[in-house]
Amino acid sequence: MCGIDCADTVAELVAASAGAADSVLFVMDGAVASHAAPVISRLSEHLRTETVQVVATESNKTLSLVGDIAEFAVSRGVTRGSVVVGMGGGMVGNVAGLTAALLFRGTRLIHLPTTPVAAFDSVVSVKQAVNLRGGKNLSGTYYAPSLIACDLRWLETVPPEQLRTGLSEMVKNVLAVIPEQWDTLMHALAAVSEGRTTEALPHLFDIGVTAKVPFLGRDPRERKEALVFEYGHTMGHALELASRGAMKHGEAVAWGMLVAAEVSHRLGFLTGEDLRSHYRIIDRLELPPARARIGAIDPMALEALLSTDNKRGYLRCADDEVAMVLLQSLGNPLVTGGSGYPLVPVRRGTLMSALHTVTEHIPEERSARWKKSSLS
Ligand SMILES: NC(=O)c1ccc[n+]([C@@H]2O[C@H](COP(=O)([O-])OP(=O)(O)OC[C@H]3O[C@@H](n4cnc5c(N)ncnc54)[C@H](O)[C@@H]3O)[C@@H](O)[C@H]2O)c1
Repeated sequence: MCGIDCADTVAELVAASAGAADSVLFVMDGAVASHAAPVISRLSEHLRTETVQVVATESNKTLSLVGDIAEFAVSRGVTRGSVVVGMGGGMVGNVAGLTAALLFRGTRLIHLPTTPVAAFDSVVSVKQAVNLRGGKNLSGTYYAPSLIACDLRWLETVPPEQLRTGLSEMVKNVLAVIPEQWDTLMHALAAVSEGRTTEALPHLFDIGVTAKVPFLGRDPRERKEALVFEYGHTMGHALELASRGAMKHGEAVAWGMLVAAEVSHRLGFLTGEDLRSHYRIIDRLELPPARARIGAIDPMALEALLSTDNKRGYLRCADDEVAMVLLQSLGNPLVTGGSGYPLVPVRRGTLMSALHTVTEHIPEERSARWKKSSLS
């Protein structure tokens, strides 16, 4: 359930959905305390509600945090008849989701997403994972929530820069799955850029749901055709981790999509026009200048992270290759012969060289536009 100015309805729905539970474990992002207060207050009218505040950083998204929350829950009398509510961005959603999956081998889960990444992307997925030192989302499971509810007003307190970087997952949906929604997304991005965010949010929600829902029925574990949603994430995850927080998930995925497009173009698949479309739409995200931050990343560390990417094992790859999503045209991923996976083995050196090309194109200042020379 999703709407605007519907916080009361959300609180009622959560209370009704949790009604049969004996208590609630409310895992929330410390940054959304003011949005959470009315929901917690409504729940507490009839149910014992134990609240845990989480600091939402990638370095905190660990098995150890999940363990601490589970220990806290048991110490406070949470039982298998309780319900776990996760309210926050994608980080809290994943942590609450994995806690719900593991606690008593499965406790009911409710997602209340508060960021664009969470509301339009991560909760429309049953993947629940945390990071290991060796890489992003390497430890987790699949677990479905019994309710997802969101008042889009919650998203309005997300800082503008974070809002825009988060929308790169919607850019991914349009480039890799639903290119027919190109104009809708361009209009929504223009609205966000002009401060008309509330107007854009329902369209962005539609883009998230339209792209993902058909795959949830056919490939709910995102292990076959739904791997297409990993577009941009091979280089993206590596950049995000190697930058140690200097680059947020959505931003890193945006650069990762450009790297994937450059690779596909070099391998003779993606046309110059489709490559330019990638630069054009990512330009509209108005991402923060990244050339210096990418330049500061140790290439050896980046290559090491590429080699532990979470798509390892789907395809037989040589030691110097990485399995990644490439497009042959917009909305049309390449499938390696007979495997059924929308994945292609690519040499790490090719990826690093494509990253160099992308970095050269990134404007040094936000006001500057992309270098035109080699794109036209
Ligand atoms: N399971 C999946 O399929 C899936 C898909 C995409 C992303 N993810 C995961 O989601 C995470 C990224 O999610 P994210 O972009 O939401 O980031 P996040 O959850 O890390 O939140 C980013 C920041 O926003 C703050 N915040 C959250 N809601 C806010 C609000 N309404 N107002 C103001 N500040 C707010 C948080 O405190 C944090 O500082 C990553 O860990 C990524 O791996 C998972």
